[in-house]
Amino acid sequence: QAPLLLPTKEWLDKPQSEQQAPLLLPTKKIPGSYGIPFISPIKDRLDYYYFKGHDNFFQSKINQYSSTVFRTNMIPGPLMASNPRVIAVLDAKSFPILFDTSKVEKKNVFTGTYMPSTKLTGGYRVCSYLDPSEPTHAKVKQFLFNLLKSRKDYFLPAFRSAYVAPIFSSVESQVATHGHVDFNALNNDIAFDFLGEAYFGERPSKEGMFGSCFNFQKKVTIWLLLQLAPLASNILTKFLIPKLVEDFLLHTFAFPSFIAQPGYKSMYEYFNTAGSAALDLAEKVGLSRDEACHNLIFATCFNTYGGLRVLFPGLLKRLAQSGRDLHARLATEVRQAVATHGENGQVTLGALEQMELANSVVYEVLRIDPPVEFQYAHAKKDFLLQSHDAQYQVRKGEMLFGYQPFATRDKRVFGANAGEFVPDRFVGSDGAKLLRYVWWSNGPETQDPTVNDKQCAGKNFVVLVARLFVAEFFLRYDSFTAEISSSVVGAQVNITSITKAKAKAHA
Ligand code: HEM
Repeated sequence: QAPLLLPTKEWLDKPQSEQQAPLLLPTKKIPGSYGIPFISPIKDRLDYYYFKGHDNFFQSKINQYSSTVFRTNMIPGPLMASNPRVIAVLDAKSFPILFDTSKVEKKNVFTGTYMPSTKLTGGYRVCSYLDPSEPTHAKVKQFLFNLLKSRKDYFLPAFRSAYVAPIFSSVESQVATHGHVDFNALNNDIAFDFLGEAYFGERPSKEGMFGSCFNFQKKVTIWLLLQLAPLASNILTKFLIPKLVEDFLLHTFAFPSFIAQPGYKSMYEYFNTAGSAALDLAEKVGLSRDEACHNLIFATCFNTYGGLRVLFPGLLKRLAQSGRDLHARLATEVRQAVATHGENGQVTLGALEQMELANSVVYEVLRIDPPVEFQYAHAKKDFLLQSHDAQYQVRKGEMLFGYQPFATRDKRVFGANAGEFVPDRFVGSDGAKLLRYVWWSNGPETQDPTVNDKQCAGKNFVVLVARLFVAEFFLRYDSFTAEISSSVVGAQVNITSITKAKAKAHA
């Protein structure tokens, strides 16, 4: 074997094709095994969900094989997934193989080793399950780009009127009355009014449509659960159902799709009516209104809503844990930027650009807690996969799997404090250089999504609303405290106190 050389930062920064890997890295057999069919995938699943937990499951295998690339079974396994075998890529050098569409295919791998029934999406394989080599992928993605572009001037006012105003007033009144408020519950209920207003100019809670945003949210949540139950755990155990029973119920068979049908029908009605102008845009790129409508439902209710359910509590969690000093710095920065670049005391895009610390906080949350933790792909051909320490032969058809929180907490890229939340990490020109290693959107933060790749179509929208959230929060409040626990996905945040702004900065 060749001697093990540590790669330099300059070398790491080059695309894989330009790295003279054979000179630098020893070629190794991928360590790990899939064990006994049927039995080992179930054991791995139980370890992952109940006995070791997510991070320990991967860390113990890294320790066992002394490698961040190894073979393992991934959840949910039998009988839900016919083939649970993957090659895990858990460091910042090997993980980006998942973005390289010249080497990997991303067909039907959005949820991993299993795929929910297309009966839940009108019989269509929606954009998230399409590989860029499939012609419909470019049409749907272009349609979504066009929609977001056509609505961009509405995002700020919609966020203020349909999200910030109701949510902040509920937080204030409930904290005053009860001493605490479940932020996740509020966020889940109100998010759809914001999304409806932002994307279509029509809230689902508008009188005569769905009665209340809450009803709409319930229908979407059932529909989401049917698709995501195989990835969830500790839902039924809260009701004292034993772990093994929960495991069997959630992870063995798909729930029948008819459970979601009545709710999905009314979701369709809302999108078909409120989204009529959006569907006109879809026809212009050659999509039928029906296929476009099912894609619109998925992009809004799964991609966007599913993401924001995790992102906003995640932001508040890290802010709450960071404490008053960070709050004070953010409040000063936000108010100063609004005073100099805002309009009538309101946040503007120009003001957001001035908020270097707030923007860094958003990137740091997306780095340390990427809302979507898993990414999958199949090898399109044989190739050599490189980690920091070695290169490995991958064969055509093998499945690659990345657990993103490990890749984006890689010490060889982010230094000794890679596992800590550092609010200033992305401030300044050196901080900006690290953005190429922020991958929450399934691609580098320094790149924009295109119709030829699988990077999140809503990348810029997400960063915008996350920045707006921080800015609007610290425009109104000096500080807050919260109790943090874990929810089925991401953080559960109960706000326990909130201090209204005393000072306003002046231009
Ligand atoms: C794809 C994350 C919001 C639309 C993805 C992927 C990730 C992601 C990780 C890649 C999945 C994979 O193929 O492995 C998120 C998060 C969001 C969010 C965390 C919010 C916090 C949005 C929004 C839209 C959107 C607002 C609205 C258009 C899509 C679409 C794809 C996608 C259409 C598939 C892209 C393709 O097939 O090329 N998203 N997303 N997402 N996202 Fe997002």
